[in-house]
Amino acid sequence: DSNNSGTDWTATRRLPQALIIGVKKGGTRALLEFLRLHPDIRALGSEPHFFDRHYARGLNWYRSMMPKALEGQVVIEKTPRYFVTMETPGRVHSMSRDVKLIVVVRDPVTRAISDYTQIISKTPYIPAFETLAFKNHTNGEIDSLWSPLWIGMYAQHLERWLAWFPRTQIHLVSGEGLISDPAGELGKVQDFLGLQRIVTDKHFYFNKTKGFPCLKKPEGSSKPHCLGKTKGRRHALIDPGVIRTLRDFYRPHNRRFYQMAGQDFGWQ
Ligand code: A3P
Repeated sequence: DSNNSGTDWTATRRLPQALIIGVKKGGTRALLEFLRLHPDIRALGSEPHFFDRHYARGLNWYRSMMPKALEGQVVIEKTPRYFVTMETPGRVHSMSRDVKLIVVVRDPVTRAISDYTQIISKTPYIPAFETLAFKNHTNGEIDSLWSPLWIGMYAQHLERWLAWFPRTQIHLVSGEGLISDPAGELGKVQDFLGLQRIVTDKHFYFNKTKGFPCLKKPEGSSKPHCLGKTKGRRHALIDPGVIRTLRDFYRPHNRRFYQMAGQDFGWQ
């Protein structure tokens, strides 16, 4: 049916035009929560894991998961595992070669400790961080296949995405920046998505008790709101020597990542 203005005012379910593909513990929930303040964003709240786990269910299933959106609204979902799964870039490309991709990256050493902190909160009796991080603790040989360490090798993951998508179609968000200057990072994300800069510093305040930026008025509410207890946890204490070894391990990977990204994230 057409109408006089030529604008379609029916909200429909559409495949996403943008994806937050990673990284786990980078600040992906914060980014999604902040983006959904924008009236032109329609975000799926849960992680659908379509491309990595439920691909066999097909695109119609995937579409049915999406929130209804009006013409002109940008539909978005986040599944941080997409960034590190082999099959995902090609599958995303076969859905849409124009989809916009967003990755929140964070110092891989801090990210690994955050990841481990999350694992230990769910399974308390796992071995110590260093037992899992090293193949051989005496010679400092790192187990780069241990997922908390492997996820942080950003260059090798980004490389896979760049085999399918041009660099301009991938926006990298600084996880550190998202905490120190949420409005600044959100400004760049809105530009990347072709949206007006509606989410600004007016939406945030720094909550001293939480130690993180929180929302003054989240969507559909009039009360201030911080992310949940599992976001912004106190980290497991790791021996400084272990941290030094990890920094040495990641240095060349980070350098290669900065080069690929054309952007220096300032991790030591
Ligand atoms: P920590 O809990 O280790 O501090 P994700 O949502 O991708 O799992 O990322 C979780 C991380 O988001 C948290 O890791 C935290 O550092 C970061 N983060 C960024 N902005 C935040 C905010 N405003 N409130 C809480 N956590 C935030």
